Amino acid sequence: MKERIRLAQGDLTKFLVDAIVNAANSSLLGGGGVDGAIHRAAGPELLIECRALGGCETGDAKITRGYSLPARHVIHTVGPIYRGGHSGESQKLSRCYRRCFEVAAENGLKSLAFPSISTGAYGYPINEACQIALKTSLEQLKRFPEMERAIFVCFSGRDLMIYAKQLAEL
Ligand code: AR6
Repeated sequence: MKERIRLAQGDLTKFLVDAIVNAANSSLLGGGGVDGAIHRAAGPELLIECRALGGCETGDAKITRGYSLPARHVIHTVGPIYRGGHSGESQKLSRCYRRCFEVAAENGLKSLAFPSISTGAYGYPINEACQIALKTSLEQLKRFPEMERAIFVCFSGRDLMIYAKQLAEL
């Protein structure tokens, strides 16, 4: 399964995959961080499509087109806000990754690129979040053999090192 995982460092909006995943908020109406970057790169039509979706619950995911992005689609998911780790954050974060794979499979997509969901404005510690991201994605790759590639796009070199270490240990 691991051979279908790739790690990268850079700007998620530049990736040519079937879908990039957005670390959105429950309004789906944009924000800062990777969400802001995706809306800027996709152009104003993305917000128009998002408005029609009626928001998204934490742990769920919804798909739109990618508009001016190289990626054909965006899967918007809403990670948990980290409140110390005893409020079901790990289950919610795991569900984000699972729902992204399910939505991708329902739409016949074969490649996904993820940011490190919840680890920016939402404050999830990167080590814990990385472990959930990789473990859940390995399970989903097993479940969906038609999914060819899952790329984890780290913004910083430090995050990339954490992902590389944890992937090697899995
Ligand atoms: N490419 C890849 N990763 C990025 C990029 C980029 N262009 N920009 C930031 N990151 P965050 P969250 C990394 O805050 O924690 C928004 O306002 C960033 O370094 O984007 O899930 C939403 O609207 C971090 O590692 O998302 C929500 O309100 C990771 O992406 C809220 O923030 C996630 O950081 C969601 O917070």
